[in-house]
Amino acid sequence: MHGRRLATLNEAICIASDESESAIDRLESWTTTHGIDLTIKDVGEQIHESEFQNARETLGISIGGDGTFLEGVRSFGPNRIPLLGINTGTLAFLARTGPRDMDAALTEVLRGRATVHDRQQLQATGAGLDATGVNDVAIQPVPPETPVDRKICRLHVFVDNEYIGEYDGSGIAINTPTGSTGLALSANGPVHFPNDNLTLQITPLNTHTMGVRPLIVSQDAEITVVPENDVRVSVDGGRHHAIAEQEEVLQITGADRPAYIVRTRYDNGFMSALAGKLGWEIRTAEDTGPREYLSDDGDPEDFLAVASRIAREAAVSAGEPVKELHGQIEQVEYKSDKADMVTEADYRSDQIIETVITNEFPNHGFCSEESGVTEGTTEYTWVVDPLDGTGNFAHGNPNYSISISLVDDEARPLVGVVHSPETDEMFHAIRDRGAYRNDTPIAPTDRDRLDESMLLSGYDPDGRFLREFYHATQGVRRLGSAALNLCYVAAGSADALWEYDTCSWDVAAGLCILREAGGRATDQTGQEYAVEFDTETRHPLAASNGTLHETLLDHFPEDGFWPQ
Ligand code: IPD
Ligand code: CA
Ligand code: CA
Repeated sequence: MHGRRLATLNEAICIASDESESAIDRLESWTTTHGIDLTIKDVGEQIHESEFQNARETLGISIGGDGTFLEGVRSFGPNRIPLLGINTGTLAFLARTGPRDMDAALTEVLRGRATVHDRQQLQATGAGLDATGVNDVAIQPVPPETPVDRKICRLHVFVDNEYIGEYDGSGIAINTPTGSTGLALSANGPVHFPNDNLTLQITPLNTHTMGVRPLIVSQDAEITVVPENDVRVSVDGGRHHAIAEQEEVLQITGADRPAYIVRTRYDNGFMSALAGKLGWEIRTAEDTGPREYLSDDGDPEDFLAVASRIAREAAVSAGEPVKELHGQIEQVEYKSDKADMVTEADYRSDQIIETVITNEFPNHGFCSEESGVTEGTTEYTWVVDPLDGTGNFAHGNPNYSISISLVDDEARPLVGVVHSPETDEMFHAIRDRGAYRNDTPIAPTDRDRLDESMLLSGYDPDGRFLREFYHATQGVRRLGSAALNLCYVAAGSADALWEYDTCSWDVAAGLCILREAGGRATDQTGQEYAVEFDTETRHPLAASNGTLHETLLDHFPEDGFWPQ
């Protein structure tokens, strides 16, 4: 899940522990100021699914310690609601934002600048239990009725059907990397750095056998535990629990669904939490104030690099709900004719992109197919098609895209981003800096003969382009997203493209990508394609690898069936 998506949140549900009144008061005032609905729940109070207005626009918040945070994971996780933990407890590795930073952290979330981390969870089944946990499963002896009676248990443990051995003692803890800092640490387990760490760990508790060490296995490993005595099984500190009788088989493995944890610049980092709370002696707790934004490689970014990064983040965030809605669209609205459709996904994507872009660049113009034109006060305008290929999308076809470009006041596309959510391809370019598919540079073909070429077309009102070029080439394909078509020519999977009429939002990003890759895009007369900042003007588009361009234009008939 992408943090940019949170820029459109309109509801917050907060689970608060006792003695959080002052933090709750501040949260109430922050949500009122920002027009966000707020519901407060006590720890342990049920949250019914019907209480979420729209899970895609909801933020979960926990105010308390790690116990309250675990309640949040249990309540919000199944609905894919990301969780921000405000720590008012003393020892916290999960809730890492201090109460003083709460307002600033929430504002960062609402600006779409937070990140959402997928935290691996585990799944425990057996003894009537089928529970998901983000921390651990503890399997321990049932306490005896009289204190002097036997308090140990013997567990037989298998990993992927291989017998690991018998654990005699106070049981075992099986934990995720997130859960490694509590129970497992106190039993001499290792510290797991939790980011992108997809493992499970089996830690013996008060083992009676010298030399038995914690064992780390893959998150997909099937851990089977067979107790020789009755044991208590407790997931995430007892949030789910059961008694397993002698010989009753317990299975533990990585869960299919992660927990979604919101992180902001105001978070105490993992190592700072460790240093500050437990005393990590090779490092002292350091200043945990906000960190500056840097590029992935740690360098400060220039304006166009920032613009490209934000556009890609907006496209990925918009792509998430669009992909979720793909194949489930029940309602389609029609605009000018039966092929001119718009769906809930077009609007949802538009809302996310507009919010992210205008948060970051409030003075820039914004021109989108679905929300129209807002003039800016600078030389820059964003030209956006939130869903290109809606016809395909509405019919369950995967060939659709999200197209975002930054254009200057001379109508030059400076940044182009075309994202295909279904194939997870991100085509992008910055003027004079080359074009890429994900991280790989792209280039068009060098074919210059029509009879060796594959062409793409778009709207072809009377089929003349098809008739004209079908036999002269190796084929003409009509795929359904003009933005993606331009990227395919840019990346060499087609040699040229023609569209009878296009709006600027269909093509502005693709033009930047094609030109940067080395291709050419003009109208049918060979004039450079002109990007417009309005919702009316349409232009024909002739685009190619460059080497085929003149041949393509020469081949156009002289009787003017191309719009002038
Ligand atoms: C359409 C697609 C199509 C093209 C049309 C566009 P939409 O965009 O790009 O390939 O031929 O001209 O309108 O309506 O799906 O955003
Ligand atoms: Ca379009
Ligand atoms: Ca569109």
